[in-house]
Amino acid sequence: MGTSFTAAGLTDSTIEREEREIEILRAEDWERVRERILVIEESSFPPDLRYSAEDFQHDLSREGSRFLILKEREVIQGFLHALPLEELDYLSFDEEWGRGDTLYVVNIALMPDLRGRGGGSRLLRHLLETTPFVRYAAHAVSPSSLRLFSGAGFRRDRVFPRWMGEHDGVYMICDKTL
Ligand SMILES: CC(C)(COP(=O)(O)OP(=O)(O)OC[C@H]1O[C@@H](n2cnc3c(N)ncnc32)[C@H](O)[C@@H]1OP(=O)(O)O)[C@@H](O)C(=O)NCCC(=O)NCCS
Repeated sequence: MGTSFTAAGLTDSTIEREEREIEILRAEDWERVRERILVIEESSFPPDLRYSAEDFQHDLSREGSRFLILKEREVIQGFLHALPLEELDYLSFDEEWGRGDTLYVVNIALMPDLRGRGGGSRLLRHLLETTPFVRYAAHAVSPSSLRLFSGAGFRRDRVFPRWMGEHDGVYMICDKTL
């Protein structure tokens, strides 16, 4: 009763983490996940930073879109969305824009009560390991995302004051070949 160790000596929480899985979402899957993704988005970002259902749906249908969800027993815990750099005109300041070798992480979020358990890192690692890009980029807009991207091998490139509304954004880059 209440034991936290198995015969293999692993704690229950270790087993729980291992049971989480990643699904790659396609545009046609949107309606199935819509409600939960919007709840996660709403609990993760202030109104001026939030994506609407239409924004998500539009981005999902773009060329080269990668949308990963982290699930445990069919319950979505978080998501990561990425697009090729070239798909986004607002990133044309990047000197590599137009070369086709960079994937940009548009959005990553976990349900608040499920953060700090490695879920964000796992989504990011999966993206880096399963996509054929040599360079990855993202704007970190919070201390937790700065830590997340740094931990995954991203380096600070430059700071954009008031990148989104009042929020500064740190542009971060990861070279996979390094
Ligand atoms: C950013 C986010 C996706 C990270 O997901 P997560 O599952 O909590 O991340 P992990 O558990 O894999 O932790 C990654 C790193 O971030 C750190 N971290 C997690 N939450 C943190 C917090 N609130 N403050 C500071 N650091 C934090 C972890 O300690 C870890 O660093 P370490 O490896 O040096 O210990 C999650 O915090 C989130 O949804 N935040 C709100 C939305 C957001 O800001 N998204 C980023 C948009 S660019």
